[in-house]
Amino acid sequence: MQLSKVMGHRGAALLAPENTLASIRAAAETGVKWVEIDVYPIAQGGLIIFHDHSLERCTNGSGLTLDANLEAILSLDAGAWFGVQHTGEKVPTLEQAIACIQELGMGLNLEIKYEGTDVEAIVPPILAVLAEHWQDNDKLMISSFNYPALEICYAMNKQLHLAYLVEDVPDDWLLKLAAIEAYSLNCYYLPLTEQQARAVKAAGYKLLCYTANEARLVEHHWDWGMDAVITDDPRQFMHLEAQS
Ligand code: G3P
Ligand code: MG
Repeated sequence: MQLSKVMGHRGAALLAPENTLASIRAAAETGVKWVEIDVYPIAQGGLIIFHDHSLERCTNGSGLTLDANLEAILSLDAGAWFGVQHTGEKVPTLEQAIACIQELGMGLNLEIKYEGTDVEAIVPPILAVLAEHWQDNDKLMISSFNYPALEICYAMNKQLHLAYLVEDVPDDWLLKLAAIEAYSLNCYYLPLTEQQARAVKAAGYKLLCYTANEARLVEHHWDWGMDAVITDDPRQFMHLEAQS
């Protein structure tokens, strides 16, 4: 796996409208080598790059993302809310995001954003798109807060680099990581303790922390063994990337 120390969050969410192609390009311009984006399966069967349950904050549409019509969502403006210069930016499909990221030569941390329970239905189409379009498995991580979704990923393809996403490290983290031969634990930097971090590393897993937008916030985490930081503003960490 070609992991590097810095990963842009939702592209580079502080620099351009999150989870758009502009955001991915803005991340690339900072020199960061990896981006995290959210894939959101909608009920009628489309795979869009989007974070929120509802459309209001990041588009000029309204209503629940899950229930949106694919054609309608792809016609929305997903950039003007961030700044007039981004007017006309669209919600990307998974295929469009993959094409953009590969063209830029970057790594992809694809977060499966799904709170439903019918993971048997939503995971296979995501893995099918990846199998068809993503070329370098050493530059691909699949992460999710939805553990059953990761279990399906594992059942379908043992070669995937799976990342269990948590806010607080749960008591059963080791069992969970072991059961899916996870690559990493991706956790919120703030509640993480030194003891937890060192235990994850001692067990042989990578440790990624989100979402820190200033270097001083995770100063200690590097000493504890953190492998990579996920940030809205990769510029704040590029001095570290240069060392890796
Ligand atoms: O991958 C870390 C981060 O993306 C998890 O939280 O809500 O920003 O998707 P969220
Ligand atoms: Mg995410």
